[in-house]
Amino acid sequence: MEKSEVLLKIGEKYNPPKGIVERAWIKDYESLYKRSVEDPEGFWGEVAEELYWFKKWDKVLEWNFPYAKWFVGGKTNITYNCLDRHIKKGKGDKIAYIFIDEENREKRISYKDLLSLVNRIANALKDLGIKKGDRISIYMPNTIEAVAVMLACARIGAIHSVVFAGFSVNALNLRIKEAGSRILFTSTYTLRRGKKIDLLSVAKEAVKDAESVERVIVWDRDGEGFKEDEKFLDFYNLIENKSEECEPEEMDAEDPLFILYTSGTTGKPKGVLHTTGGYMVQTYFTAKTVFDLHEDDIFWCTADIGWITGHSYIVYGILANGVTSLIVEGAPDYPDPGRWWSYIEKYKVNVFYTAPTAIRMFMRYGEEWPSKYDLSSLRILGSVGEPINPEAWHWYYKHIGRERCVIVDTWWQTETGAHMITTLPSYPAKPGKAGKPFFGIVAEVVDREGKKVPPNTVGILVIKTPWPSMLRTCWGNPERYEKYWKSIPGNVYNADDLASYDEEGYIMILGRADDVLNVAGHRIGTMEVESALVDHPAVAEAAVIGKPHEVKGEIIKAFVILKKGYEPSEELEKDIKQHVRDTLGPIAVPEEIAFVEKLPKTRSGKIMRRVLKAQELGFEVGDISTLED
Ligand code: PRX
Repeated sequence: MEKSEVLLKIGEKYNPPKGIVERAWIKDYESLYKRSVEDPEGFWGEVAEELYWFKKWDKVLEWNFPYAKWFVGGKTNITYNCLDRHIKKGKGDKIAYIFIDEENREKRISYKDLLSLVNRIANALKDLGIKKGDRISIYMPNTIEAVAVMLACARIGAIHSVVFAGFSVNALNLRIKEAGSRILFTSTYTLRRGKKIDLLSVAKEAVKDAESVERVIVWDRDGEGFKEDEKFLDFYNLIENKSEECEPEEMDAEDPLFILYTSGTTGKPKGVLHTTGGYMVQTYFTAKTVFDLHEDDIFWCTADIGWITGHSYIVYGILANGVTSLIVEGAPDYPDPGRWWSYIEKYKVNVFYTAPTAIRMFMRYGEEWPSKYDLSSLRILGSVGEPINPEAWHWYYKHIGRERCVIVDTWWQTETGAHMITTLPSYPAKPGKAGKPFFGIVAEVVDREGKKVPPNTVGILVIKTPWPSMLRTCWGNPERYEKYWKSIPGNVYNADDLASYDEEGYIMILGRADDVLNVAGHRIGTMEVESALVDHPAVAEAAVIGKPHEVKGEIIKAFVILKKGYEPSEELEKDIKQHVRDTLGPIAVPEEIAFVEKLPKTRSGKIMRRVLKAQELGFEVGDISTLED
């Protein structure tokens, strides 16, 4: 496609089908948006009334820049809203999750049975002396059991910290130590492309010097005879005789719910902290209105619980709406590229939520794969994680949605907890543009001085007022938290994304404005990869950039200076890549490594990645007055 054609398509509008608008919870975006920002407290208070509170809040918002408290004085428990609330309405036998593994083995669990499982785990944790506020790390595959462990923590007020099961020893070790977790939950393995990936060995290695960890609880998936000892306990033995009743802990609206580590510009990931009430309200309401969830809907979010998308839209926001959803383990295209589409047909999925990188991968396989399946159950298609290019948007619209569905492109972050800028099913979508701000969200595109830029001009995306599911702090690093609100003048939250807006208020996201990469929808810090590289015995210095890639959005390219006595070779390149894989995990491995003699640096010694990137992509290098050499 010619560039001009693409640009043309960015402006195009797609009206939602009449039937979809008619059933939508929200039919008139503009008037509700206006009301929500004129009276955010009134608005969010009404939304919160839809959920159950042991004690109602005294005040909806207390804003003490840059610290917000939402639903002040309110008492609730998110698991009560996700489980008990539906069961009490007679929906206990309704299926909460359908889990499917790579061999199409299926496991279903009802709301009632999920609550029993959660309570047994919660009681086991209590018997181990776990109390409200204690941290628990979870390194488990994308399964019902992992979700149950998350909910068990929330049931008793323990703070979970899920670590994506694709991370390696060092990454897991760091996250466990930073959180100071008392317990680690893991599993014997996860399945990927027909292979069992050993998680237990990684977990064993990762807890070796993690002094806070008292116990590792191992879910022995196949009952392969995992041997217990003092420290390593068997999940099933542990919960076997536990009661299925466990009163939900009365949580203050501002009590921490979870920590989730995410990449930033420094070598260390940030522990984003979310609290109970506001997170619950916004994930519930965005799931309800953006995905337009109704009682009998079948929902499927293809993310992993190891990321925020899984937390908010596999677990909390989805269960809070009481629908049935799918949890799928393994690769999208294994055993064949029809896997996902076969599930949409078989389970009659109505709302499907995935990432552009997956769509682009399926584009490569060709439309003959989805065309084999009946996808007529679909109504809403969601996109998340990176900008969706118009070509991918159109392919998704045509070959998956069959021109009968709406596409909602949802922009948000680990930090924001829930959707922030998104298309709603009731108003026209513009391919390539995320859409308009969600209710109660005041977004603006500004320059570095905080001044609003004119329409169709690139600037930085900021959020001007607090929102319920915003992060409350960075675990153990309040300065880092304050930086979000203090790096751009005007007391605004800096999302560190490049964006522009048009005359109709649609916002387009162009990618990160900082040194954070987005590889196949995964957020990776350049410094994290660089630290892993220089940790290799042959590497003296390293710099990492993101290089545009057709399917993955970006790939990692590393520039490496070798230590004296080492010569570039294919073998060494392989060995360095393996080292990054062992340290951080497969998602962080540089696709390309260039051995160089020198790296462009400022006089103060900072690597100028921008110069490397410009050179690599053949752009103008720009201002290099600070370049040392
Ligand atoms: O750059 C934006 C991109 O993903 C970043 C947040 O990454 P993470 O915290 O891992 O959360 C991903 C899932 C919510 C953002 O700063 N991003 C996320 N959604 C979109 C997006 N970029 C463009 N369009 C989106 N819909």
